[in-house]
This record gives sequence, structure tokens and C-alpha cells, in this order.
Amino acid sequence: MQTIFSGIQPSGVPTIGNYIGAMKQFVDLQNDFDCYFCVVDEHAITVPQKRLELRQQIRGLAALYLAVGLDPAKVTLFIQSEVPAHTEGAWLVQCNTYIGELERMTQFKDKSAKNEKQGVSAALLTYPPLMVADIVLYHAHLVPVGEDQRQHLELTRDFVERFNNRYGENGPILTLPEAKFVKEGARVMSLAEPTQKMSKSDKNVKGFISMLDEPAVIRKKIKSAVTDSSGVIEYDPENKPGVSNLLSIYAACTGESIASLVARYEGKGYGEFKTDLGEAVVGLLEPIQEKYHAWMASEELDTILDTGAEKARAVSNKTLNQMKNAMGL
Ligand code: ADP
Ligand code: NA
Repeated sequence: MQTIFSGIQPSGVPTIGNYIGAMKQFVDLQNDFDCYFCVVDEHAITVPQKRLELRQQIRGLAALYLAVGLDPAKVTLFIQSEVPAHTEGAWLVQCNTYIGELERMTQFKDKSAKNEKQGVSAALLTYPPLMVADIVLYHAHLVPVGEDQRQHLELTRDFVERFNNRYGENGPILTLPEAKFVKEGARVMSLAEPTQKMSKSDKNVKGFISMLDEPAVIRKKIKSAVTDSSGVIEYDPENKPGVSNLLSIYAACTGESIASLVARYEGKGYGEFKTDLGEAVVGLLEPIQEKYHAWMASEELDTILDTGAEKARAVSNKTLNQMKNAMGL
């Protein structure tokens, strides 16, 4: 059976972008792969976080993983900071990665520009090597992610090829992973600025729908989503990024194709379209929110995370030792 690894940062409550681009894939893949899903809290601290909020978000993200339908009997669910091989592995990765490669990462450029005032941590630059370690430690074949992670996955593949070439005299040591994107919704855009990616760490809360937003808030955010003045519902990301984004979200939430949606809303206005979309998103999130609250109140959540960390430690330590041996440590 092939292996899957993926992670989400507890840097806020996940958005419908995280759900559509990443979490939904996790659920669909869990039956056919050996899956590791991680709360990547060490990635979240590359920018300052409030301690108590972070605590809550870490456990909350684990509860959401379960609420969307991940089955702890089928997947390994764990918190990154409970598995020390990730940071130790990241050091081995850094020793085989060039500064130039890291400075070229568009996410580093964006995030360092945004955090310039409070200072750019070294970890913002060395974040991709930690992500490389996350992936290679489990010998992942596939990494289901959103479009924004494409460049990091390419860096991971370059690293694996380099590492195997340098140290794999007796055959490859690490598995070459591949990114896996959804067909519709791999890059959900901000509702307020549809040329920007939707992100849970966006300062403008109107830009994203959090998976824990109240139904009234969801409806309101969709009503005030930026569109255009043409009034025509058609899919044209270049010229109509707002409406096209709403169409993608609609399609991803209901499974209806964009073509069918466009045909159904021909001659109708944005008002009716947005009202229906609001109901579709509420319909998707309400049952997830109910399950989320049940998991948050349950001690079983902590047991699942303990079991997950134990399994992850065993698997990742084995790979870490292979890497250290290969490098002469
Ligand atoms: P964020 O940028 O919201 O903080 P993370 O960095 O924690 O998200 O990413 C978690 C997963 O969600 C990754 O696989 C990422 O590619 C995916 N993802 C993030 N934002 C979006 C988006 N707007 N559309 C689709 N997928 C996304
Ligand atoms: Na982020």
C-alpha cells in the first residue's frame, strides 16, 4: 500500500479553502492509502502566535480532522511537536539544501514581506526543509495539498533526488513523493480580494469562511463577497475572478459541475446565486461543526493523538536513523 502524508498549520481555524483544497482529499483517500495526517504546529510558530490561542487551535484542528470524517482506525493522526524526528530531520535536510533554493520560494518572499515590521525569523526561510522532513520521514508517495504548496513539493523532490544521489550508494534511501491536487478548488481565493489566496491567517476576516463560522456569519460573508458589475454568472477566472471563485466553491461544496451551475443560473442575478451558495456552504459545514464540538468535549480525542504520536515516532525514527547512517552520523 502506498503512503500519504499531509499537514495543516494550527495558525487559525481552517477555512473552506483548506477544506476544499486539502482536507476533503484526505477523507477521500483514507481507504486506499496508509495515511499520516499532522497538525503542523512547528510550522505555525515561524510567525508569532498567542500561546493560549495556539493551544486551543492545535487541539481544535485535530478535532476538525476527525469531524470532517477521518477515521482514526484507518489513519494516523498526530501533532508534529510530539514527534521529535521532524525537527532533527529538518536539520539533515538543511545540510543538503542551498540558501538560494529557499530564497526563491514565493511563500517565503510573501511572508517575509508581510512580517518585515516585526522581524523575519530564520525559520521563515528554513520552513520548507521542515516540510521536506515531514514528508520524507514517512516515505510518502503522495502529498495531497492545495496549489500554493506546488513549489514546496518541487523542492522536496529535488531534495530527495539529491539525497539519494549523494548517499544512496546501495540504492535509494528516500521515497520520491508527488503532490496531489483536487481538480476543482486547489486554489480557493479570498472573498474580499479574489486575486489573493484565501488564508486562515488573513487579517481581513471578510476574506475567508472559517469552518467554525456561525451560519449567519457564513451567509453574510458570501453576500458581501466581491464580484463585478456585469451581473452575469459565468466562469472566467481572468476577467471575473470573484464570480469564478464563488462558482468553484459552489461546485466543490455540492459536487455539481461548474458547467451545470452556469447553465442553471443563466439569466439569474448574483443575489439569488449568493443566497443559494450560502445555503450550500452552511449545509456542508453545519454537520461538521456538530461533530467538531462532540470531539472537543471527548477525551477520546487525546487518546487518538497519543496513539498517533506513538506510531509516528516509531516510523519516523526508523527513517531518521537511515538518513543519519547514510550521512555518517
Ligand atoms: P493557510 O494558508 O490557510 O494558513 P496552510 O498553510 O495550513 O493554510 O495549508 C493547509 C493546506 O491547505 C495545504 O495543503 C494548503 O495547500 C491548503 N490550502 C491553503 N489555502 C488554500 C486555498 N486557498 N485553496 C486551496 N487549498 C488551500
Ligand atoms: Na498559512
